[in-house]
Amino acid sequence: MSVEIREVAKFERIGAHSHIRGLGLDENLKAKPVADGLVGQVRAREAAGVVVRLIKAGKMAGRGILIAGPTGTGKTAIAVAISKELGKDIPFVHVSASEFYSTEMKKTEALIQTIRKAIGVRIREKRDVLEGEVVGLDLNMVPNPYNPTQKIPESATLTLATKDERKTFSISGRLAMTFLYQGIEVGDVIIIDKETGRVTKLGKSEKAEKKYDIGGEDIVEVPAGKVEKEREFTYVVTLHDLDEANARGGSFLFMLSTSREIDNEIRNAVDEKVKRWVEEGRAELVPGVLFIDETHLMDIELFTFMNRAMESEMAPIIILASNRGFAKIRGTDIVAPHGIPLDLLDRLLIITTEPYGEEEIKLILEIRAGESGIVLDDDALKKLTDLGVKNSLRYAVQLLAPAYEFAKLRNGKTVKTEDVERAARLFADVSQSSNYLRKWEEKMLPM
Ligand SMILES: Nc1ncnc2c1ncn2[C@@H]1O[C@H](COP(=O)(O)OP(=O)(O)OP(=O)(O)O)[C@@H](O)[C@H]1O
Ligand SMILES: [Mg+2]
Repeated sequence: MSVEIREVAKFERIGAHSHIRGLGLDENLKAKPVADGLVGQVRAREAAGVVVRLIKAGKMAGRGILIAGPTGTGKTAIAVAISKELGKDIPFVHVSASEFYSTEMKKTEALIQTIRKAIGVRIREKRDVLEGEVVGLDLNMVPNPYNPTQKIPESATLTLATKDERKTFSISGRLAMTFLYQGIEVGDVIIIDKETGRVTKLGKSEKAEKKYDIGGEDIVEVPAGKVEKEREFTYVVTLHDLDEANARGGSFLFMLSTSREIDNEIRNAVDEKVKRWVEEGRAELVPGVLFIDETHLMDIELFTFMNRAMESEMAPIIILASNRGFAKIRGTDIVAPHGIPLDLLDRLLIITTEPYGEEEIKLILEIRAGESGIVLDDDALKKLTDLGVKNSLRYAVQLLAPAYEFAKLRNGKTVKTEDVERAARLFADVSQSSNYLRKWEEKMLPM
């Protein structure tokens, strides 16, 4: 009997890649050895640079990229760098294929919703908005039902003020979450779109600037007139935003949102509406990027569905990442490169990543440590680099935080070899833990 080690949805997400600011290329799309938080992996970065150019020029819609390479070689890192290079106006959705399997909705429904999150519509029109300076923001925080150590807002009370008026609203947890993500606080001048719940920060108010002396942010005048008003502006919403708004028959600003299935009829109606806007010159389509990490977790049904979606006139650019060689396509007995059906592979440009040498591992660890405010002495860095070479870069990166905890326990400010060793003794990397499971297979409960 063999034991399958199920992959747990990764919460590393942005955290593990927070040091990455871009692809680190020069004007000629040549990779600088170390730049924007990225080290080495020159060919893949330069290829990614070309992809960014093609996306910006609108020449990639409905096509795809596969980033293939062994684990810990920076596939996710490069995808994150691509999203940084694309900037805010092009939607970039980052999911792990495991997220398509949930109890809340069918997997194909989850996929289509994700695809539609990656298609933007740039709209120019008059919108009903709330505009003003945030003068009161009270978040009602509750434990996250999926992760009780984390707190999320359930609802909030928001007070907005213009020069002439002040109004208080109770807002949904979803909108409050947007506030948290965007770091919106008292003193910011913002606009909230009443239909889509989109929040735009214009800057700090002059009044707040005088009070707190904040540097580095745009200072703006507090708007005049009413808080609730009509305003003409241009912005990008996603097809999924529009689907949700329409499913609720208008505004979702003041409602609690739950993830749920959306009728195809609603999506068709949204598509028709968007097409009409485009024809009337009020909107344009902005195909964004859908990055599906851990692609081998997709099954044949999802692949087939995605292939069809990519042929439609409204399709995002798909980036897949795989660390598998030849593997069975999930849900079949067919073995294919990366576990990806051949008809899909045919339309993908492939970027490969290569294992790092010692020097690169060391540099990456230094950058990661710097990003987390961790100081290592030379021997500790050497030890960690060795572990990175012997086990994996990912493992070495993950040991940084526990090693730092041990340093703090000693009242030390710098991480020493002993701290790294202590961390490495306590935490296994994947190959160690899977060997361990294999050894004890007969004694452990079958799955
Ligand atoms: N070239 C690089 N420069 C800087 N940091 C890097 C580089 N490559 C990887 N990293 C960092 O090393 C860690 C592991 O890399 P990453 O998660 O991107 O690997 P991966 O190829 O996606 O692995 P897997 O196949 O297991 O998903 C991450 O913290 C990542 O940000
Ligand atoms: Mg990855």
